[in-house]
Amino acid sequence: MVKICCIGAGYVGGPTMAVIALKCPKVQVVVVDISTPRITAWNSDQLPIYEPGLDDVVKQCKGKNLFFSTDVEKHVAEADIVFVSVNTPTKTQGLGAGKAADLTYWESAARMIADVSKSDKIVVEKSTVPVKTAEAIERILTHNNKGINFQILSNPEFLAEGTAIKDLFNPDRVLIGGRETSGGQKAIAALRDVYAQWVPIDKIICTNLWSAELSKLAANAFLAQRISSVNAMSALCEATGADVTQVSQAIGKDTRIGPKFLNASVGFGGSCFQKDILNLVYICECHGLAEVANYWKQVIKINDYQKTRFVNRIVSSMFNTVSGKKVAILGFAFKKDTGDTRETPAIDVCKGLIGDKAKISIYDPQVQEEQITRDLALKKFDWDHPVHLQPMSPTSVKQVACVWDAYEATKGAHGICILTEWDEFKLLDYKRIFDGMEKPAFVFDGRNVVDAEKLRKIGFIVYAIGKPLDAWLKDMPAVA
Ligand code: NAI
Repeated sequence: MVKICCIGAGYVGGPTMAVIALKCPKVQVVVVDISTPRITAWNSDQLPIYEPGLDDVVKQCKGKNLFFSTDVEKHVAEADIVFVSVNTPTKTQGLGAGKAADLTYWESAARMIADVSKSDKIVVEKSTVPVKTAEAIERILTHNNKGINFQILSNPEFLAEGTAIKDLFNPDRVLIGGRETSGGQKAIAALRDVYAQWVPIDKIICTNLWSAELSKLAANAFLAQRISSVNAMSALCEATGADVTQVSQAIGKDTRIGPKFLNASVGFGGSCFQKDILNLVYICECHGLAEVANYWKQVIKINDYQKTRFVNRIVSSMFNTVSGKKVAILGFAFKKDTGDTRETPAIDVCKGLIGDKAKISIYDPQVQEEQITRDLALKKFDWDHPVHLQPMSPTSVKQVACVWDAYEATKGAHGICILTEWDEFKLLDYKRIFDGMEKPAFVFDGRNVVDAEKLRKIGFIVYAIGKPLDAWLKDMPAVA
């Protein structure tokens, strides 16, 4: 029986390994983590992450060929294939701070693998890492040369949160990079055999190590660039009277462009896009490619611009001040169908409003108050370094309330900001909400989820990203 151990029981390690266990009943999969609360949650009925379909997959294999444990060293020592799916955040200090990937967690995992291994192993990079990381990992693994053969593979994960199980069941492709030696090719074949249990062979792409590592960064950069492109267009649409949805539809019909990922919004979030582009920028700079680095940096600049533009629009529409006014925030997760708030645009929007002294009332169906409080207290890039936790300042605490109902959040509010595209926000009784709000009552739709015309008929002043502006909004131009 092949034994797989995955280091890191997070958003990637957990779902990926659960699906491997389900699809390969003859493989034993153990997911290990240094975080005891995370492992305890995986071993309970209340999984640590919310992902549609995940509960069901875990239930089917947990205790049979899928296990979760904090006994990291034991399970690594026993495994034939070790996946490393630990966090690779942006460095906050020292060389490359604010750009380079922080490989502290990766390095410590690699050192531990080297120390505890007594048999040959395939070590798989599942985390997103800078190009050439495999070379560094190889050096760490072989530093004390115990005669053990380690083969390093790069197998980046392309799942999207919110659709992770669907993506894992039916991936667009699986990418495996390895050394072009016979040992490297044998290792590629062993991992390919695992995926081939359910993924058609023509969807499993095998490359050299560096192509696989770079492809993941490139894929995220292209995806984020698409969002920034449509968001840049949304600002021009508002200025000209064009409608970004119509523009997206028109350009998406071109088969070279395609219709997906063309929705304008308040900006992209999530743990990966910004971090991976910054990492790409850093690598370009290290190779003296300043023009290329600047090109990709612009994707992040537009994303920041879009968030600032949104906050400025809110404040300017409400007579240039939100001081003491209640503003309801509907949605805090970075997208629907996840409870993940890492780099969510909601953090910047809320901080912007708090900075202008608004009182904000937040409702998200999947995000706990504790998480929101923590997110609003953290400095940029600190979110993936749990040790940096800081308490929230007393003023900010007074300005923020988290509630468990959209109606409660909007009661007595001057404005509503929709920041996550949860389906339930389309179904709210907006007449009831309008009746309970201060007047004039505003809706700022950062995801284009509500029917703006219907809301205007009720009496709301509605701002929807990239859509023609109400007369009110035209009279109060926002300065970005
Ligand atoms: P996460 O933060 O949810 O999970 C990482 C886990 O690794 C944590 O539970 C942490 O306690 C554990 N860990 C860290 N160091 C450890 C060590 N030495 N030994 C044992 N456990 C350790 O991170 P997530 O989101 O799962 O991401 C992991 C990697 O996958 C990152 O490189 C990310 O860029 C990449 N990725 C993430 C995607 C996503 O949608 N979240 C998608 C594709 C790739």
